[in-house]
Amino acid sequence: MKFFLDTANLAQIKEAQELGIIDGVTTNPSLMAKEGIKGEANILKHYVDICEIVDGDVSAEVISTDYEGMIAEGEKLAALHPQIVVKVPVIKEGIKAIKYLSKKGIRTNCTLVFTTGQALLAAKAGATYVSPFVGRLDDISHDGMELIGQIVDMFNYYGMGTQVLAASIRNTMHIIKCIELGADIATCPLEPILGLLKHPLTESGLKKFLEDYHKLNG
Ligand code: E4P
Repeated sequence: MKFFLDTANLAQIKEAQELGIIDGVTTNPSLMAKEGIKGEANILKHYVDICEIVDGDVSAEVISTDYEGMIAEGEKLAALHPQIVVKVPVIKEGIKAIKYLSKKGIRTNCTLVFTTGQALLAAKAGATYVSPFVGRLDDISHDGMELIGQIVDMFNYYGMGTQVLAASIRNTMHIIKCIELGADIATCPLEPILGLLKHPLTESGLKKFLEDYHKLNG
């Protein structure tokens, strides 16, 4: 399973890239705002900065909600860097825009997916990725992970090439579940990924190895 880092924070992206554990980055307008990136020129430059740090796909989201606006933005974003994937919301105009962009060879990430029906329409339109939001479903007492399993099964059953990019991943157990269910990618902050390393037997085992070494070697 691949990992995308779900942030627009350049320091965190550098840290994860140097660890050698990430395969791309996802951003959204809220994550860009969190970093204080404002104004079109700064926003576009920030996407290029991210592409120059990370090896892999970088999702950049359109802010238009009409078809013409989305395709114009999508073409502009895609022209920024070969690693850019255009992120488009799963609304009627968005599906049409994904169809247009995919026909032009521009890769897309269909976002804000909360049902299998939405994922099916995105895949039929030619989306490279669909992003079902796990944490936000959990937040309203729905099983976000169940949706990941259903979409993985649907794409496998129908032989659809769209990849399942599990988004809104909030903790390490979410990641473990994504692995079990066969998600293609999980996008999350660095902290839950690092949580995968934690095990008390690793910590106590390492402590003992070092104690035994130092007993003889000082
Ligand atoms: C990434 O593609 C999504 O926009 C992101 O994972 C949403 O996460 P959140 O629900 O924690 O805001």
